Amino acid sequence: MTAPADVSPGDFRAVLGSYATGVTVVTTRAPDGEPVGLTVNSFTSVSLDPPLVLFCLDREAGSLPAFETADGFAVNILSADQAAVSNRFADPQAARFDGEGVADWSTGAPILADALAALDCTVHARHDGGDHIILVGRVRRLAVLSDDEPLIYWRGVYRKLG
Ligand SMILES: Cc1cc2nc3c(=O)[nH]c(=O)nc-3n(C[C@H](O)[C@H](O)[C@H](O)COP(=O)(O)O)c2cc1C
Repeated sequence: MTAPADVSPGDFRAVLGSYATGVTVVTTRAPDGEPVGLTVNSFTSVSLDPPLVLFCLDREAGSLPAFETADGFAVNILSADQAAVSNRFADPQAARFDGEGVADWSTGAPILADALAALDCTVHARHDGGDHIILVGRVRRLAVLSDDEPLIYWRGVYRKLG
């Protein structure tokens, strides 16, 4: 058996950044009802039966306490013209929900009205993921909300299809 190769943070970022993803805003509500949300590209589908999805949340994230206590979360998939929304929900200083039309489906997690598609989930499991936690959600309601093209994130920059 060969010894495992050392993995430097720079190589890890460069190689994983070569994997193109969509961009989402994952939302929930704090115990006082305040909306909470951040930009996430670690979202993926897990299981069709039951319908499960996951995302990974940095243990240092300010929104961690809300996601640790909430019963549900929503995944809002962004469209190609929503790079500014992605930047706002990644900016620690921004009033992230200002100007956003939001809907409440079943869990109470904010659904962004202008998203490309959205999934409303109850928390199915929380797992250790090193310096992140892995939140697995059971999809309770989902819909495609527009025919726009998706926002793509690749090697640290936003891209569009084509
Ligand atoms: C394109 C993009 C993808 C991101 N993906 C994630 C992610 O999957 N998980 C995560 O914890 N942070 C991710 N972030 C970083 C958070 O959005 C950012 O740190 C945010 O300020 C965290 O907010 P909070 O501290 O209020 O929780 C991403 C940022 C960008 C721009």
